Amino acid sequence: MASYIIEGGKKLEGEVNISGSKNASLPIMAASILSGETTTLYNVPNIYDTQTTAKILKILGCNVTRKNGKVIIDSQNMQSKEIPDELMRKMRSSVVLAGALIGRFREATFSYPGGCDIGTRPIDLHLKGFEKLGIKIEENNGFIKCSCDKIIGNDIHLDFPSVGATENIILASIFAEGETMITNAAMEPEIEDLQNFLNKMGAKVQGAGTNVIKITGVKKLKAVSYNIMPDRIEAGTMLCMGAVTGGDIVVNNVRLEHITPVLYKLEEAGNKITIGTNKIELQGAKRLKAVDIKTMPYPGFPTDMQSIFTAMLCFAKGTSMIIENIFENRYKYVNELIRMGAKITIEGKIAIVKGVRKMTGAEVNSTDLRGGAALVLAALTAKGSSKINNIEYILRGYENLDKKLTKIGAKIIQQN
Ligand code: EPZ
Repeated sequence: MASYIIEGGKKLEGEVNISGSKNASLPIMAASILSGETTTLYNVPNIYDTQTTAKILKILGCNVTRKNGKVIIDSQNMQSKEIPDELMRKMRSSVVLAGALIGRFREATFSYPGGCDIGTRPIDLHLKGFEKLGIKIEENNGFIKCSCDKIIGNDIHLDFPSVGATENIILASIFAEGETMITNAAMEPEIEDLQNFLNKMGAKVQGAGTNVIKITGVKKLKAVSYNIMPDRIEAGTMLCMGAVTGGDIVVNNVRLEHITPVLYKLEEAGNKITIGTNKIELQGAKRLKAVDIKTMPYPGFPTDMQSIFTAMLCFAKGTSMIIENIFENRYKYVNELIRMGAKITIEGKIAIVKGVRKMTGAEVNSTDLRGGAALVLAALTAKGSSKINNIEYILRGYENLDKKLTKIGAKIIQQN
């Protein structure tokens, strides 16, 4: 298992270029198989999760190559409709391939995506949506087989605005007979990026970004090239890292409207934010102020920023209250922060953070992707050296994190 060694206490100063969005790349890579031709994607971050998705596409019979920053997916000769079990377990978000396989072949077989580091992660809303489209679902010995003769458009109401379920229903209904209307749909920007990609291929999807999405079935999609949106969570992560070190950083290629809730909270915590064209400058507060956070579906405060923001608030003046409303087990990183001197108590979905002036470096273990990023943030400010283990979690979602941080003054090295 690889680790980061971080020397704390350095102010972060300079510019960071944000990579393409992990959570837009995964559904768009899956959607590319709907054309049966060759798709070229730009700005796909080279991270474990996109590498795993490429591996699955190859096993399904696609030809996938990555060269100078672009990913080329040729889905002409696909044979298999079965998502490999061990890759399904490795990356639950591969369940979005099921929607794409059903959309194209009217069948898909996949294993139950096991729970993961932040919760049980059920897929009941995905399966209910598939059934409403006329898809037969057979579940036995941990495998789910979806099949149908034809897909019939229908009205589908989601009990919860699930991002993955919204994406999967869109993909499964692209070639449906008639119209599909998703109400209480997730409104995350990554779904809008997926809609833009699909419509460029010739699909008819409207309403992404709102809670009502309409898909009008079409016959065929064509091959296109497409530029993935920037990663709003990486942008938020970098801004928080600048803030916690009292530094002065500029993040480039970021869509302001995608991270407004995070910016408001960073300002409330005492940081100075200056907005440019596709860039944001943050001048860190001398001493951060405590703020309260409540994670909500978009456009509320993003759950993916919860751990990173909580780690930043460990150094604030005063007491902050964090409420995690999306996932039931997204505080596993807290025990590791406590080893570095954080004062945090957890009561169910609430974390109470008593700000401290100083934390000390320690050897800690990443528990999940965003929890790992939170430990990096704390280590950048803690006194002395920290060793963060199991950074494979972090490498799933952050491209060249150590290089980007080194460029703006951090003392961080990766130890394999
Ligand atoms: C996506 O996960 C993101 N992943 C997550 O980012 C993000 O945290 C999440 O959306 C919420 O914004 C990708 O896009 C690849 P959900 P997803 O379905 O689709 C419950 C990261 O760090 N639920 O919106 O799995 C579920 O248990 C990752 O980049 C059901 O109950 O999230 C959870 O409590 C982590 N039944 C809530 O809804 C279902 O059928 C939100 O899940 C589906 C979901």
